[in-house]
Amino acid sequence: LDFARKDIDVPSTAPKELLRGKHSAFIQHYESAKDSYEYIMAEHIRVSGIFWCLSAMDIMNEVDKMSKDKIIEYIAECRNPDGGYGPAPRNDSHILHTLSAVQILMIFEALGKADIDEIARYVKSLQNEDGSFVGDKAGEVDTRFTFCSLATLHLIGRLEVVDLDAAIAFVMRCYNSDGGFGTRPGSESHAGQVYCCVGSLAVAGRLDDIDRDRTAQWLAFRQCDSGGLNGRPEKLPDVCYSWWVLSSLAILRRLDFIDEDRMKRFIFACQDDETGGFADRPGDYPDPFHTVFGIAALSLFGDDSLAPVDPVFCMAARRIGDKALL
Ligand code: FPP
Ligand code: ZN
Repeated sequence: LDFARKDIDVPSTAPKELLRGKHSAFIQHYESAKDSYEYIMAEHIRVSGIFWCLSAMDIMNEVDKMSKDKIIEYIAECRNPDGGYGPAPRNDSHILHTLSAVQILMIFEALGKADIDEIARYVKSLQNEDGSFVGDKAGEVDTRFTFCSLATLHLIGRLEVVDLDAAIAFVMRCYNSDGGFGTRPGSESHAGQVYCCVGSLAVAGRLDDIDRDRTAQWLAFRQCDSGGLNGRPEKLPDVCYSWWVLSSLAILRRLDFIDEDRMKRFIFACQDDETGGFADRPGDYPDPFHTVFGIAALSLFGDDSLAPVDPVFCMAARRIGDKALL
C-alpha cells in the first residue's frame, strides 16, 4: 500500500505575490470579448459566472469597471414566473442562480429592483417535508441547495418563510463522525459540503450544535505539503478548496489551524502571470471561478490591496452590512 499523499510540486518560477492588476484585466476581458458573457461563458453557468466576476472585482475594489446597467438588465431577463432565476434567459429557475442574482443585485446596491416576495415564494417551494431542499425542478436533494436557499432568504430578509428547524435537522443528519459533512445523510465528508453546512448553521445561528474543533481538524487535514488544500482525502489540491476550507475555518474562528505562509505560496502559484486569473493548480488554464476563490481566500488572511471578504457569502464585507452573521 502506498500511503504517500497526492500532491503537486510548486514550480520555483511560479508567482510569489498577488498580480492584482492582471486579474482585473483578466476579468474585464470576459466583459469586453465578443458579445461579452453570452459568448464566453456557457449558458448553464452564466448568472453564477457573472457573480464570480463581479465579486472578484468588488474584492479588488474595481467593480466600477463593470457594466452595471447592462448586467442588472440581464439579470432581470433571467427571472422566471415561479419567482426564481435561471442561469440565462428562458432557462428554468435554479436556487444557485437565484442566490447569485440576489448577490449581484446587492453588489450593485440594486436589491430594490428584485421582487423579494416572489423570490421568497420560490425558495419556500424547494423545501421538502424532512427539511432538505431541492435545487430545481429536477428534484435532486443536496446540502449545497440548503445553503443556497438559506443564504438567499437571509440576504433578502425572509428566513421565516421556511421551516428552519427542519432545515438544520437535515443538515445535522449529514454531519459525519469525522467532523465533516456530506451531500446527503450517509455521504462521505467533502470540503465543499462542509462550507455549505457550516454556512447554513451560521445563517441559522446554530454553530453551537457541532464540535467546532473536530470539524476544524478535518478541514486542517486538507492541507497538503505543497500548501494547497484538497476537498477530500487522497485528492489533489485545488485553489477553489482554499475558499471552501478557509471560509469554513473562518466561520468556525479556527483559521489558525492552517499554515498561512504555505497556503499563500500555493495560491500565488496558481496565478497565470501572462493572462492574469487563477487556475485550479499551478500551470493550468485560469478561469473566473478559480479567480474569485483565489482572491477571496487571500482576503480572508487580510491583504492591504483587497477589501475584507465575508466568509459566509463570498462577497466584499461592506456589501453585507447589518446582515453580517459573524
Ligand atoms: C465542490 O464542487 C464544491 C461544493 C460542493 C460547494 C458548492 C457550493 C455552492 C454551490 C454554494 C456557492 C455559493 C457561494 C456564495 C460561493 P465539485 O462538484 O467541483 O466537487 P469536486 O471537486 O469533488 O469535483
Ligand atoms: Zn476547483
